[in-house]
Amino acid sequence: MDKFLIKGVKELSGEIKISGAKNAVLPVMAATLIVPGKFRILNVPNLRDTRTMIKLLEIIGCTVQYNNGNELIVDSTDANNPCAPYELVKTMRASFYVLGPLLARFQRSEVSLPGGCAWGPRPVDFHIKALKEMGINIDLESGNIIASGQPNGTEISFPKKSVGATGNILMAAVKAKGQTVIRNAAREPEIVALGEFLIMLGADIQGLGEDIITINPILIEESDVEFFIIPDRIEAGTFMMAVAATGGELKLTNVYPRHLDCVISQLIKVGVDIVVDNESITVKSNRKLVAVNMETLEYPGFPTDLQAQYMALMMIAKGQSNIKDNIYIDRFTHIAELNRMGGDVSLIDNVATVKGGSSLSSAPVMCTDIRASAALIISALCAKGETEISRIYHIDRGYENIEQKLKKVGVCIKRLSS
Ligand code: UD1
Repeated sequence: MDKFLIKGVKELSGEIKISGAKNAVLPVMAATLIVPGKFRILNVPNLRDTRTMIKLLEIIGCTVQYNNGNELIVDSTDANNPCAPYELVKTMRASFYVLGPLLARFQRSEVSLPGGCAWGPRPVDFHIKALKEMGINIDLESGNIIASGQPNGTEISFPKKSVGATGNILMAAVKAKGQTVIRNAAREPEIVALGEFLIMLGADIQGLGEDIITINPILIEESDVEFFIIPDRIEAGTFMMAVAATGGELKLTNVYPRHLDCVISQLIKVGVDIVVDNESITVKSNRKLVAVNMETLEYPGFPTDLQAQYMALMMIAKGQSNIKDNIYIDRFTHIAELNRMGGDVSLIDNVATVKGGSSLSSAPVMCTDIRASAALIISALCAKGETEISRIYHIDRGYENIEQKLKKVGVCIKRLSS
């Protein structure tokens, strides 16, 4: 298993081009299954997760080409095997996104039921209940969901906003009989991007980015589409926190600042200087940071995917802060690792209290999930000495070329392969 060695305490400076968004490309890749056709997808990050999704599309019967220019071509014409096996779903929960598209295309799908993950249970009951409301028969056999039937348009009201369930139902609904209305829909930019892709396939979708989405199904039978993946707001937010923590000046390009409004205003409160342009963000920090409370919320609130990185930042800010995760209440496995590096973080229920002003020092630490890994990198950048971070396959799932990007802005980082 690969490891990173990172030497800390050096300012970051320079420019980083942000990659396409992992959480946008995975559902769009799944959506290529909905109608037979050829799809050219641009700005696709080369990640472990995108490679897993390619494998899954190939198992289902698609022909897939990926080239170094971040271009992905999926030909779903001959897809014929509507199954997502456990071996893939267990390594990447986003595989579950094929459930809706396979039902839309084949009126049948067999998808392994995802288990829990490092930060606790991650149920899929909203997806299942909504599909049943659309008239789909659902059985569970040997850990697989066997879903069958033609989706019928209906009104679905989610008890809570869910990115995954909104995405799956959007994709099932574009081939449903009649109109579907989703109430309490997720408003994340990645859902808007998925909706825009479905509109290119011929669906009539109103209300993207709002609480109520109305979907009228697709009429076309075959497709030939080109689509650009939005920049990764979580990758951008991670680098913003990294330079805030180390000091220095970083310009992030290929980014949509409007997707990061909440993060930008939070960091300004912390004492970071941020200048926003059309598709770039420049972040300047003199490390005079003050602790500010934060709680994660659905978009446009502060993303749960930046909670761990923000915690790393608060460890070196002056004062005490509370960090509450409202989306995933158990998503705190990084605390133990951050404390090994000299952090002073305690947890009661879903609120972490961070006593700031810590001077961090290197330690061997271990990644527990994608974003927790990013928090360890930020701490390592601020720590005295050389930090060894193991289990970095988590980082490779979600951050494209992270060591090249960090090296370019002055970080001394080495990958040890074994
Ligand atoms: C969530 C995040 C997403 C992030 C992803 C990976 C939100 C709203 N979603 O998406 O931004 O990229 O984690 O870190 O911030 N839920 C159920 N039953 C379901 C589905 C969801 O109870 O069937 C609950 C979840 O437990 C959670 C909440 O609803 O508390 C939001 O879940 P959801 O948005 O679906 O999670 P992800 O799609 O994993």
